[in-house]
Amino acid sequence: MRNILIIGIGSGNPDHMTVEAIEALNRADVLFIPDKGEEKAALRSLRESICTRFIRQPGYRTVPVAIPKRAEAGADYRGVVDDWHERIAASYCSLFETELAEGENGALMVWGDPALYDSTLRIMERVAASGLALDWQVYPGISSVQVLAARHRIPLNSIGGPILVTTGRRLAAGFPADQDSVVVMLDGEQSFGAVDPEGLDIYWGAYLGTPDEILLAGPLAALSAEITRVRAEARARHGWIMDTYLLRRRPA
Ligand SMILES: C[S@@+](CC[C@H](N)C(=O)[O-])C[C@H]1O[C@@H](n2cnc3c(N)ncnc32)[C@H](O)[C@@H]1O
Repeated sequence: MRNILIIGIGSGNPDHMTVEAIEALNRADVLFIPDKGEEKAALRSLRESICTRFIRQPGYRTVPVAIPKRAEAGADYRGVVDDWHERIAASYCSLFETELAEGENGALMVWGDPALYDSTLRIMERVAASGLALDWQVYPGISSVQVLAARHRIPLNSIGGPILVTTGRRLAAGFPADQDSVVVMLDGEQSFGAVDPEGLDIYWGAYLGTPDEILLAGPLAALSAEITRVRAEARARHGWIMDTYLLRRRPA
């Protein structure tokens, strides 16, 4: 049987690799390297420094994986993503079959933690459902959300309270009335600018874990315009940006 190691590599800092992830990486015969849009530059440089620093026997092979382009989402977002995942799964399936021998370990290095806004595990289910005899294990990574909380020195939840982790697209519909702590990811539109800032604090972080990390925190009403400006400048300077933030309702 072929085996796939799904390895969380942290979200920018090679020091965030766990010992378990390093040992898994050292069992890999083949590293499958996806070519991804937003994460491209950052992912490539993090992956390279991790491989150079942690792989003890550089006898592994690397195999590039061409990731098909996603169609424009339009009204049928779920349908488009479904179709896209099916095409990615087909691409992985044929590469696993041709590039991995029976008994070999392939590895996929996943940004942050594979459980959070990453489709690798859903795609693995599809690959397995296609009939290829295959097993896989998951090695958790330090997520950007954990780094955000650590850098700002805050807990994510209020005492005994829940946390909602959501996307910029959903936040744009308004700050949920029944929540006091909302973590926002995948926000290319600065959706914090679309919510009523009254009574909200923001804890914002970009390039978390990397040498270019930027942190800003304070009342949303006072910081919204500044974060938008800092974000645009940084994005222009680096050519890419990844940012995430916590919105927290101030206790009455
Ligand atoms: C496709 S999701 C992947 C999340 C990843 N699995 C994790 O555990 O952090 C990408 C989003 O995660 C957030 N993100 C990932 N890395 C980040 C970083 N180094 N700094 C700030 N935000 C980051 C951003 O909101 C970005 O749009």
